Amino acid sequence: MRATTKPTTADLDAALPAQRGRPARRPPTGEDPSLRAAYRLCRHTTRVHDSGIHALIQLMPTVLRPPCWALWAAASVLDDLADQRDAEQAERAARVEAWTQALQRDLTVGTSTDPVRHALVDTALRWRLDLSSLQGAVTSTLDDVRDRRFADWAEWRAWCETLVPWVDQVRHLFEQAGAPMTLRLDRQQDYKRFIDGAQLTDILTDLGADLTQGLLLLPQEALDTYPSAEDDLRQGRWSPATAALIRELTALARQWLTRPAMTTGMHPGAATVLNTAACLMRAQLDAVDGAGPTLLKRAPRPSLATRTRILAPARLRSGLAWSLTPLTAPGPRRPAVTKSDPSRAAEADTALQPPPPHPGGARPPQITLDQMPAHVAVIMDGNGRWAQQHRLPRPEGHRAGTAAAHEMVYGALEIGLRHLTLYAFSTENWKRDTGEITTILEAIRRDLDDGPLRDLDVRQRWLGHPDKLPDELVQALLREERRTRNRTALTLTVCINYGGRDEITRTAAALAQEAHAGDIDPHLIGEDDFARHLPHPDMPDVDLLWRTGNEQRTSNFLPWHATYAELHFTPDHWPDVDRRDLWQAITEYSRRQRRHGAAPLVSPEHHRPPRHVRCDCRSCPP
Ligand code: IPE
Ligand code: IPE
Ligand code: MG
Repeated sequence: MRATTKPTTADLDAALPAQRGRPARRPPTGEDPSLRAAYRLCRHTTRVHDSGIHALIQLMPTVLRPPCWALWAAASVLDDLADQRDAEQAERAARVEAWTQALQRDLTVGTSTDPVRHALVDTALRWRLDLSSLQGAVTSTLDDVRDRRFADWAEWRAWCETLVPWVDQVRHLFEQAGAPMTLRLDRQQDYKRFIDGAQLTDILTDLGADLTQGLLLLPQEALDTYPSAEDDLRQGRWSPATAALIRELTALARQWLTRPAMTTGMHPGAATVLNTAACLMRAQLDAVDGAGPTLLKRAPRPSLATRTRILAPARLRSGLAWSLTPLTAPGPRRPAVTKSDPSRAAEADTALQPPPPHPGGARPPQITLDQMPAHVAVIMDGNGRWAQQHRLPRPEGHRAGTAAAHEMVYGALEIGLRHLTLYAFSTENWKRDTGEITTILEAIRRDLDDGPLRDLDVRQRWLGHPDKLPDELVQALLREERRTRNRTALTLTVCINYGGRDEITRTAAALAQEAHAGDIDPHLIGEDDFARHLPHPDMPDVDLLWRTGNEQRTSNFLPWHATYAELHFTPDHWPDVDRRDLWQAITEYSRRQRRHGAAPLVSPEHHRPPRHVRCDCRSCPP
């Protein structure tokens, strides 16, 4: 079960004799002795449960170690609860459930009588972690994996993804501390492969222990490469087929773990942590390769000399890197008082708010569900001309345009739209004057920091490429993406440094990489494969594409998603529109007949305009 929740490496702590006997580093917990003891226990639990992880945490800056111990100790406790062989599956599930429910209660009061939860609650509140994202990972530790079979690598990966939320929590900690473990968006594929490599290393290491429990956590696709290998493994027999299979899998894991570009441009301390993790896991794979038949009896370990060779220079490098970056731990915080969902208590200080009403009291039209677009995309054009019309400098037009963007979000929430995508800055807009570019990007960043969308039930995400964008803006975009990821009413995608051709080119490159690595057969690539490699694979096709500013072109906006979009062009400059214009666009859309290449429908049924209970949009009579 361990492989389902987190990666392990070999017992590396023994490689660090200098560490032994030292008093535990004092976590920044203020004067609360019980909290200090709780963090110490978490550190101990991490070391006992997975001393390789403990060694990696020692490469992190001092302020980040206690929260990492708390997270890892919690993962270990949950793992143990889910794994207890003395209990039936239902009983184990009940124990995990009880622990997580107690955590939710503890989060609302800000403390716990259980030491691991006490440290975890302090970590979550202090570092503003949203622990609700761990729910899926926790649930999957309850799965009974005994009969689990994976047809292919894709199924195996989907199961392994439960690790990602834990890793994301650690990345969030780095970001909060001011040393972001920024993964460039064009390296996301590398990141995913790295996680796969960690999982596969773990599974190969624990092969013997898993087999004694009847578990063989490898995809059928891989097992079938050597026909007798599966039988041999299940019978505990070492054979030429099993040896060849293991060799092939260690080579694959090594390839997945070797992603030098993943840490390019990263803080050198964070890069050292990731690169060392990769080195340790490769050493672990060497040990698996060298184990031969004993692999089926016990977990192999790299030698002490090997571990020391990797960890000693890493300690020096990380120590130097972190000493050059002053980082501080945030102080203790109290939980939010008014949260309807206690699992999200650490997420924000306030409960989610409804959108402010339209100043004139306008209400949205009622559109029947089958006539509502799922996804509206907007080219917000005409800021410059609006400014010119008002004898203002162009930057003023962009500032005024921000209020119109807020209006779109309010209108989308009120009418019940699920996806709204706004074009804010194109890859072609770099051709503009530097001052104007700075104004546009600055306005976006300020809005992310303290704009009025922060407390709405809106999941905010960014589509575009980080190249040339200011680092603070990229960080703010990623932060908001993380902060709002569990919100459900509306998904707002803001396109910044976005170009449709750029998106298609990068997606094609990602597919080419997969084909090159042998993960996908180039002859079988279909539209679905392409769509799965887009930056936001879950983004639905655009139903309605609306452009303001009296231009009738799409300017490199969403070419993949908008192939069948209904087009809507309006003359107003962007700062002059408000939510009623969005409602009007949707109302017009609801009257269109979409065919997607089929023959027209003749039944009069389909020509009847929708009935509105009451509509305040600008085109409908009062
Ligand atoms: C759209 O308004 C905003 C961006 C492209 C960033 P414009 O700045 O293009 O306004 P016009 O088209 O010049 O009036
Ligand atoms: C499109 O507007 C880009 C955005 C709205 C962000 P532009 O004003 O840049 O488009 P063109 O150059 O007139 O086609
Ligand atoms: Mg324009």
